[in-house]
This record gives sequence, C-alpha cells and structure tokens, in this order.
Amino acid sequence: MTTIKICLGSSCFARGNAEVLSFLKNYISAENKHAKLELVGCRCGHLCGDGPNVFIDGQKYTKVTPQSLQAILEKL
Ligand code: FES
Repeated sequence: MTTIKICLGSSCFARGNAEVLSFLKNYISAENKHAKLELVGCRCGHLCGDGPNVFIDGQKYTKVTPQSLQAILEKL
C-alpha cells in the first residue's frame, strides 16, 4: 500500500491542491487503485513556500500539478 498524503492547508489548497485532490480521487477510482493507494490529508507542514505539497510514502513532492503527479503515480 502506498500512502499519498496531500497538504490541505490553506496555502497549498489555494495554490493547486484543490485540483490535485480532485485529480487524485478520480485517478484512484478510474484506475481502480483503491487497494494500492491510500489517500489522506494533512495540515500545513510550514513548507508553504514549496507548495502545493504532496508526500508519497514520506517523500516530499513540491509544486505538484495533476500532470506531474500522474507521471509519478504511473511509475509506482
Ligand atoms: S499549506 Fe501546505 S505546507 Fe503550508
């Protein structure tokens, strides 16, 4: 199981994670990845300047977009 933790703090959310959250929900459903990908939210980690931030199994990904995340997820 891979855990995807998305920052839902106001800065990351306003700067793109609202769209990223929608993308991730759709991706997990469309690709039927419920057994492989766990999606959780987290609060601001005070890394806002790098945001929007997502952590995949603890590794930080910064300035993410739906496109950049899709490329990462397809390599998992
Ligand atoms: S809002 Fe995401 S790190 Fe601050």
